[in-house]
Amino acid sequence: MTDKIIITIDGWSSCGKSTLAKQLAKKLGYLYIDSGAMYRAITLYFLRNNIDIADEHKIKQALKNITLEFRVNEYSHQSEIFLNEENVEYIIRDLIIAEKVSEIAALKEVRSFAVKAQQKIGKNKGIVMDGRDIGTTVFPHAELKIFMVADETVRVERRFTEMFDKNPNITLDEIKANIEMRDYIDSHREISPLRKASDAIVIDNTHLTEKEQLEFALGLLKKRKKAV
Ligand code: DC
Repeated sequence: MTDKIIITIDGWSSCGKSTLAKQLAKKLGYLYIDSGAMYRAITLYFLRNNIDIADEHKIKQALKNITLEFRVNEYSHQSEIFLNEENVEYIIRDLIIAEKVSEIAALKEVRSFAVKAQQKIGKNKGIVMDGRDIGTTVFPHAELKIFMVADETVRVERRFTEMFDKNPNITLDEIKANIEMRDYIDSHREISPLRKASDAIVIDNTHLTEKEQLEFALGLLKKRKKAV
């Protein structure tokens, strides 16, 4: 018997999900899985290979040629995503990918491919996975589910600071437009749209520091342990 659990963190774009997920994983000695990175890597493959997303057959064929893997970087100790053996962790953070990813992540075949891969990664538990549908679709029986929210202005500023280092030409308006577009597509798509699972606990981190949100999440874990 293992006492390892699955922790899911869903929420809107740029809400700080990955920051909390990484900190929790580190604290617990769990694996952190960024499910968005999988959709981003698939998007990168589709763009590089000009896959016609109106053609179901072409999508299925393309997915057969994709292998995704997370490997832990020996220096940073962070997990990084590999697309067909290539480390694409940094390329997939580009705005070109962010502009296309929600559309590609809404495709039925893509979702079923990614969800299966995510469930396989989580079969031995001991993971923190963040995304949009992790608590509702991927691991509906996860032991701890968190749903993160934050004011849009704060989210735009945070994403801007993050992106500015890589691309000093980027503007706040571009970031805002991208976040709004992704939020809309992610929450309105037909298959597993972004929703709070009924048993998820909301963390609004608009006014929380990283330390405070981690402490809050660890508090939730403690309460959960007392309850079992
Ligand atoms: O978390 P992120 O911003 O890197 O995710 C990129 C996109 O991938 C996001 O706009 C929607 C999609 N996504 C999804 O549909 N389901 C998930 N579980 C994770 C991400």
